[in-house]
Amino acid sequence: MSWFSCIGKSHKKSKEKPEKRKEESSLSEKLKLKPLLDMKKEILKDGADHISAQTFAFRELAVATKNFRNDCLLGEGGFGRVYKGRLESTNQIVAIKQLDRNGLQGNREFLVEVLMLSLLHHPNLVNLIGYCADGDQRLLVYEYMPLGSLEDHLHDLPPDKKRLDWNARMKIAAGAAKGLEYLHDKANPPVIYRDLKCSNILLGEGYHPKLSDFGLAKLGPVGDKTHVSTRVMGTYGYCAPEYAMTGQLTLKSDVYSFGVVLLEIITGRKAIDNSKGVGEHNLVAWARPLFKDRRKFQQMADPMLQGQYPTRGLYQALAVASMCVQEQPTMRPLVADVVTALTYLAAQKYDPDSQPVQSFHLAPATPPRTRNRTAGLRKAKVED
Ligand SMILES: Nc1ncnc2c1ncn2[C@@H]1O[C@H](COP(=O)(O)OP(=O)(O)OP(=O)(O)O)[C@@H](O)[C@H]1O
Ligand SMILES: [Mg+2]
Repeated sequence: MSWFSCIGKSHKKSKEKPEKRKEESSLSEKLKLKPLLDMKKEILKDGADHISAQTFAFRELAVATKNFRNDCLLGEGGFGRVYKGRLESTNQIVAIKQLDRNGLQGNREFLVEVLMLSLLHHPNLVNLIGYCADGDQRLLVYEYMPLGSLEDHLHDLPPDKKRLDWNARMKIAAGAAKGLEYLHDKANPPVIYRDLKCSNILLGEGYHPKLSDFGLAKLGPVGDKTHVSTRVMGTYGYCAPEYAMTGQLTLKSDVYSFGVVLLEIITGRKAIDNSKGVGEHNLVAWARPLFKDRRKFQQMADPMLQGQYPTRGLYQALAVASMCVQEQPTMRPLVADVVTALTYLAAQKYDPDSQPVQSFHLAPATPPRTRNRTAGLRKAKVED
């Protein structure tokens, strides 16, 4: 507990008691957290001293979630359940993630998340309000993101849910890229996010996107085997080929994952979808041959857009996505270049009332696909 207090509450290093520092170093050695502690020192040296996470007692969080009642459940991921809660002390609405695993490895990932999110601050990263490490309990308290995850808006939508329009999609893509740029280019040393996917892009009012969960995933490949295989399964489809084959992680692996997310945003398809027909299970494998022929670009637009997108903008967004998912990591752009391109695209507001609407062909929700989907699209008007 004292180690948590040390990182979470006090950033005045000179006032730390010597015994506390000793405890920090031995625990960090045990948990192999040295790179993070070095990063903490670097960031503090640079003056970005914003450690602001609070500690919570378990009881406070139980009260906030009405004892973790099912109707407060927001979702469940590989690390545990996420509940919506209201903090009694401040009345603030929060999202509380309860880690359901015990042991050293779970503890280590918890520490990584707390440290990372305590040190890294950006408008496109989710804000960690605090944490609880009472006994065996490990909970993380985040700002509540009212629109849920990008995944909730792209895939398996209930019929009454509003579809994301083109402008919202470009805004989300540009904001997520900015969050990644912060991790790659502003954090010192750079942070490889490693778990970029639609469920980890959370949305605030006006579809303002924030990356979440990068701390938990970042440094945690060992330990509980079930958990590791779950993670691998969970990120299957987003993982750069060289990372999947060699385990070697670079900033360009994140750029690849970003490209997959961007493709999902444009096409409305999932990174992996086994319900699709042969040759369409893997989004990148499906998209690669289409990238080679500009005339096929309009086939790639999400049918849910109902043709309401700018042709030139679609081409440009697809060009960015295709560069990001190149096989060769060196051929992929830097995230800073992706930010420049997507910020430009997000600034070009599309108005279906004054700009042309493309003809489109609504695909059936489930396979098998017997119709020739391209028939209607070939007739689509191409501006460019
Ligand atoms: N801060 C938050 N505000 C609102 N909803 C959230 C917040 N954090 C998570 N959620 C919701 O809880 C769900 C589960 O999140 P969680 O991060 O545990 O799992 P995941 O992202 O689906 O999978 P993984 O464990 O692989 O990251 C999310 O999909 C989202 O809908
Ligand atoms: Mg997540």
